[in-house]
Amino acid sequence: MKVAVFASGTGTNAEALIKAAKTGELGGEVALVVSDKQHAPVLEKARNLGVKAEHLSPQSFSDKAAYEQAILTLLTKEGIDFIVLAGYMRLIGPTLLEAYEGKMINIHPSLLPAFPGLDAIGQALEAKADTTGVTIHYVDAGMDTGPVIAQQQVAIAKGETRETLTAKIQAVEHTLYPAVVKQVLNEHVEGEQQ
Ligand code: GRF
Repeated sequence: MKVAVFASGTGTNAEALIKAAKTGELGGEVALVVSDKQHAPVLEKARNLGVKAEHLSPQSFSDKAAYEQAILTLLTKEGIDFIVLAGYMRLIGPTLLEAYEGKMINIHPSLLPAFPGLDAIGQALEAKADTTGVTIHYVDAGMDTGPVIAQQQVAIAKGETRETLTAKIQAVEHTLYPAVVKQVLNEHVEGEQQ
């Protein structure tokens, strides 16, 4: 199975996924990284690990459908079977949703449906929650709304700061995401064989 990772930022999850693929722990290959941000550090990280990384700017296209059609053309050219969103800061539109129905997942740093959208970690701190976590879910047209595949709790300690909580959540993400991608890819391979 060939996987494309979509990311807009730092790319620590993309890096964890690429490294897991290289050691055979992903059950698939990360063949492509796509970013909507020209200077996203994820592009450099991926290239340094030998993975093709492409920037496509939404501003260069007339609308979202045209932008996603260009991404779709690239995915088709690269033979991509599955899309993994890892800090991709755009809602996915009908063009990609229809082409990759049931073959696109996302990771979010909260226990959804709690704290969807931007700055989930800040939202959890602001709410003085004592627990937050990580959710991996299938992607639908909403913001962080698709069917949940896996969740893991992270305790918020007394005196927790944004930095310490982010580090705890990232540590969970970097283990959980490769494991769940492996599980989901396996299910797809088995589904295709039936
Ligand atoms: C992660 O916390 C992920 O849950 C969220 O965006 C962040 C991406 O971080 N969707 P990174 O770019 O993988 O470091």
